[in-house]
Amino acid sequence: MSVMYLRGGTPLEGELSVHGAKNSVLPILAACLLARGPVVLHNCPRLTDVTAALGILRRLGCRAEQEGHTITVDPSGAAGCSVSEEQMRAMRSSIIFLGPLLARMGEAHLTYPGGCELGPRPIDLHLAAIRAMGCQVNEELGIHCQGRPKGGEVQLGLPSVGATENAILCAVGASGSTTIANAAREPEIGDLQSFLNRLGAEVRGAGSSTITVEGGRTLSGGEFTVMGDRIVAATLLSAGAAAGGRVRLSGVDWRHLATVLSVLHQAGCRVESRLEYVELERDRDVPLKAVPTIRTAPYPGFPTDAQAPIMAALAASQGCTLFVETMFDSRYRHVPELIRMGADITTEGRVALVRGTDRLRGARVEAADLRGGGALAAAALGAEGTTILSGLNHIDRGYEGLEEMLRALGADVERREA
Ligand code: UD1
Repeated sequence: MSVMYLRGGTPLEGELSVHGAKNSVLPILAACLLARGPVVLHNCPRLTDVTAALGILRRLGCRAEQEGHTITVDPSGAAGCSVSEEQMRAMRSSIIFLGPLLARMGEAHLTYPGGCELGPRPIDLHLAAIRAMGCQVNEELGIHCQGRPKGGEVQLGLPSVGATENAILCAVGASGSTTIANAAREPEIGDLQSFLNRLGAEVRGAGSSTITVEGGRTLSGGEFTVMGDRIVAATLLSAGAAAGGRVRLSGVDWRHLATVLSVLHQAGCRVESRLEYVELERDRDVPLKAVPTIRTAPYPGFPTDAQAPIMAALAASQGCTLFVETMFDSRYRHVPELIRMGADITTEGRVALVRGTDRLRGARVEAADLRGGGALAAAALGAEGTTILSGLNHIDRGYEGLEEMLRALGADVERREA
């Protein structure tokens, strides 16, 4: 088992290009099943979730390799239609293969992804979307879906990111056109649309609540560059806010971070947003200020994935900040660990009250989920002394070489075998 040693108390100073987005590359990898020729993807992060998705593609008969940040998928030999229980458990978003499998094979055998670190992870909206396109769903022993999808009207009860992506992917292979209403508007859905259209699909409306898909187009192979990871950027900016100093990030579109940047600005950081970069500066001798209530919401609201990193920064601040988590049940698992570092935080259900303290102190802490892990690293860099962070398996799902990224920003961080 490896752990991260983070020595806090010194300001950050540096520049970094943010790696590709996990939440973009995963649905794009599933979409590769729909292509008829080889696909080359650039800016793909090296993450355990990406490795898991490549494993699923291989099981389904594709050739799938990652070399550096480039992934090549040749789906011409795709033949299978089942994902093993082990693979479904290894990566909770493996449910994203449901839509493409139905579109390509007319059949999909998956197991229920079950609950996860964030609480229950229902897939009722994914299944309702599939049913709306005429496919049969049997949930008796796992998830068995059958039928060639037909265009239809998909009305999502909630703007679920995964269900929107599954609906798009199924609709691309359907006969006829499909309208998806109350679609999620996250930027990664725009990236999926761009990728699919590059291969010859006809998807319109990503970024709005209504998406239309003209199904039945033959998709060629092609080349595509995955967008930068806005949540990794939010985490690194939170680290800069916690530690003080100056952090400049390129490779992300600041407009995708607007709500996070607004909070950081209100907390007293100088934020400069340009086409080429986003820069955050904070004088370490001037404490952060509490901000008005932070309520997580679907995009363009404040991202649930940025809640923990921003809380880590505001744990040492002047005043009280209230957080309301509206998306997931168990999204405060970083709180007990922040308290070990001297934070004063009370939670009740989906609400957390952060009473800002002067400064956190280093401690032994454990990441219980991916973004909570990023948050603890950010907190550690603002704290006095050394933090020993374990649970790196969670962090490696979504941050490529977090310690190297932080070192590039001038932090004193290393990963060691415990
Ligand atoms: C995606 C992101 C994740 C982010 C989340 C919310 C990926 C790979 N992951 O997850 O990082 O935290 O969006 O921005 O892109 N729901 C249902 N029924 C369903 C599906 C979802 O009730 O069938 C609920 C969920 O429990 C949750 C809400 O809808 O409360 C939003 O979930 P969803 O948008 O689906 O998240 P994911 O796509 O799983």
